[in-house]
Amino acid sequence: MSGLIPRSFIDDLLTRVDIVDTIHARVSLKKKGQLYAACCPFHNEKTPSFMVNPIKQFYYCFGCGVSGTAISFMMAYEHLDFVEAVESLAANQGLSVPREKGKRAKAAAQAKQKNKSLYTLMEDVAHYYQQNLQKNSAAQAYLEQRGLSREVIDRYSLGYIPEGWDAVSKRFSQQSVQNTTQSYTQQQLLDVGLLIKNEKGRVYDRFRDRIMFPIVDRRGRTIGFGGRVMGDGSPKYLNSPETTLFHKGTELYGFYEARQHTRKLSRIVVVEGYMDVIALAQFGISYAVATLGTATTKEHVGHLFRAVSEVIFCFDGDRAGREAAWRALQNSLTVLRDGKDIRFLFLPMGEDPDSQVRKIGREAFEKSLQRDSISMTDYLIEHLSKSHNLSSREGRASFLAEAGQLLQTMPDGLICDQLKVDVARLTSIDLAAFTKRKRKQINAEPKQSFSRLNDRKVRITPIRYAITLLLHRPALAAEVSNLEEIVMFNLPGVILLAKLIETIEESPHINAAAILDRWRDTQHEASIVSLMRWQPKSDDDVMLAREIKDCLRQIRKQAYGKKLENLLQKERINGLDDLEKRDLLALLRECDHPERIEQ
Ligand code: CTP
Ligand code: MN
Repeated sequence: MSGLIPRSFIDDLLTRVDIVDTIHARVSLKKKGQLYAACCPFHNEKTPSFMVNPIKQFYYCFGCGVSGTAISFMMAYEHLDFVEAVESLAANQGLSVPREKGKRAKAAAQAKQKNKSLYTLMEDVAHYYQQNLQKNSAAQAYLEQRGLSREVIDRYSLGYIPEGWDAVSKRFSQQSVQNTTQSYTQQQLLDVGLLIKNEKGRVYDRFRDRIMFPIVDRRGRTIGFGGRVMGDGSPKYLNSPETTLFHKGTELYGFYEARQHTRKLSRIVVVEGYMDVIALAQFGISYAVATLGTATTKEHVGHLFRAVSEVIFCFDGDRAGREAAWRALQNSLTVLRDGKDIRFLFLPMGEDPDSQVRKIGREAFEKSLQRDSISMTDYLIEHLSKSHNLSSREGRASFLAEAGQLLQTMPDGLICDQLKVDVARLTSIDLAAFTKRKRKQINAEPKQSFSRLNDRKVRITPIRYAITLLLHRPALAAEVSNLEEIVMFNLPGVILLAKLIETIEESPHINAAAILDRWRDTQHEASIVSLMRWQPKSDDDVMLAREIKDCLRQIRKQAYGKKLENLLQKERINGLDDLEKRDLLALLRECDHPERIEQ
């Protein structure tokens, strides 16, 4: 395939195609206010939470969190890659897809290639590990002795790295391999954590003589590895460090494989280890994932709840397992909405899911997931009751304080209400008084808030609201002036806002879907998606223009406030130079006349 598809063609395609037609041809849509709704084609559900927005040309599922443009819908629904999806949509419009020619296109293609090459590198290395496994009888014997089947070894792409300090360098470093497509710079190999450089500058392989477990992200790209010694060596497991590709706090081992295996998952079991995930899969329980040697984070749980509505944490019954469970509970509260279910299963002492499923088999294990697991709310109350003495006044007070703190992190809803009732009963406190105290604490939270969005519970900063408005009506970019000045203030989100305005100025007819496509695969993609979901309450042009101007006023005010605060603090600590003193005086004068800032 030659040059890239020109940006302008994609912009144009996304304004010509109607996402409502594209989706309706495959999933029957019903009009619902300004939007269209359907039961989500990407997860199991009975009531529609899949919404299509014709103004933004964007879809979003409130149940599982999938979202995107007509292009991403085609990719996901028809299992196409990006270019195929563009080609299919274009063909439907009677268009043929042009390609860029010449030097610039080549340079752009090269730059993209460079970004991609770290993933390719990891892919190549994973493949190399797999080949090694086929050649090494000791490694094969180890996996056999652990009871792993050929099929499951393939499904999880297990591999092996032989003994030695430079196996990976020898095989993949440009210094030793020439003229092959599979060679990389030493820096790239260091960047993905496959090589280590010690203080003396010596470079050597991180993994030696280990069974290798590739870790893939939600799209199936290899981003890291876990390596286990064969036998009793130490450390038992060695994992890739945090890199630009690999973030332990958000990745889950086995998530991709589980979703590949079952298109519509309904529940997920979270276990502690690689071997647990694999053993369960071998026994037909293909919906287990593991955190990667870290506690369960709220990002982990958030990802899980976008895919399923039931999560069961299955931990060892020992102290470490109980501690891991309590941490998981604390981090799950913030994302536990009504309709989502979290349960905990504690295994008998000395067993982990791997040993347990081998002992009792699939059926009994699944039965035990239902029968022996405890709901999150029961676990919360039980744990708190055990750690405070409810027969003393002091004990009840500390119970109440801890419970109040935990409940405060929960979203409002029936689950939270239920817990409040239980807490009030156990401490014999008046429910109304307890609830009122909690409200007060929440309301004290300082945050800019706009209640003009369609969902009143959302609090959003002026910068985020400005972005929401621009996505809804890109022409509003014309209302923004003095952007350079605002950018200098360095407030969170301001860079994205500025880039967005620049993009709209360059392509005035762009729509929200085309904007989203430009930010595909970048750090800003998630923010744009989350802001796409909100609709301004009014669709009136004059109102919208007033709103964005109001946002900008607030942003400037916020920025001036921050600058003032910084200068005052510096003055207290180090003193100010002449220039800074002048700035400070000017700012203070402005603050005496706030209308001037607000112009
Ligand atoms: N772990 C780790 N580093 C270690 C030990 C453990 O990162 N030194 C992580 C691994 O992700 C491992 C998980 O914690 O899978 C659970 O550890 P453990 O229960 O000790 O191992 P098992 O998964 O039971 O592995 P095995 O059955 O091979 O002993
Ligand atoms: Mn184990």
